[in-house]
Amino acid sequence: MADNKSFIMPAHVGIIMDGNGRWAKKRGMPRPVGHTHGAQNFRTITRYISKQGVKILTLYAFSTENWKRPPEEVGALMKLFKQYLVEALTDFREDDIRLRFIGDRSAFDPQLRALIDETEELSASREGMVLNLAMNYGGRDELLRAVKLLCKEVQEGKADIDRLTQQDIQRCLYTAGEPDPDLIIRTGGEFRLSNFMLYQAAYSEFVSTEVLWPDFKPEDFDRAVEEFNRRSRRFGGV
Ligand code: FPP
Repeated sequence: MADNKSFIMPAHVGIIMDGNGRWAKKRGMPRPVGHTHGAQNFRTITRYISKQGVKILTLYAFSTENWKRPPEEVGALMKLFKQYLVEALTDFREDDIRLRFIGDRSAFDPQLRALIDETEELSASREGMVLNLAMNYGGRDELLRAVKLLCKEVQEGKADIDRLTQQDIQRCLYTAGEPDPDLIIRTGGEFRLSNFMLYQAAYSEFVSTEVLWPDFKPEDFDRAVEEFNRRSRRFGGV
């Protein structure tokens, strides 16, 4: 695939991992079973993508709206997060993957919060791909947080309201210091962002695939990158 000289591997890829529930339903199984298979695939796909030269991978694991799901489903997801965070630390060591979490972690139970902190701390010195796990993440919530941070700076005289720039917004986002995603892939066939990286996605190339997340294979990632390479990115220019 990488023979073409002008082939570009996107530096930052975001993935909206959708379709776990439908995957299970199609097989006559409860929705959480789909999440279990989705979590297994999270491990496989993350490791594959890290080997492709992607610098940052952001995965949408749980949105600020996902709390509306039935308690059994939310509970099953929380259990999976705990299990996979413990495993991810060792699993991803070989690939030198650094884990970061974006979103409001204060809503999680103390055990999960501690795991999140520990996973970040213990992988902080790794120099391979950065994996941002978006958990209790919402783009609107992130923007509200940024507005509050900036208001506070203005209130305390640390920032001048007339001199605020887009860089000031950027440094107040969870993804401060990271480049915007070049490519956003959504599995499960829908064509929407669902509150994912609303500010950062301004010029991201969007690829939607019918494939449900538990079935998403390395070849599907390669196809999305090929599609990305067929796009002409102009960032508002000509
Ligand atoms: C969307 O599918 C998926 C989620 C809300 C959960 C994503 C979680 C995982 C892939 C597993 C765990 C990840 C980690 C980091 C361990 P859906 O339930 O909305 O599917 P549907 O559209 O078919 O109903």
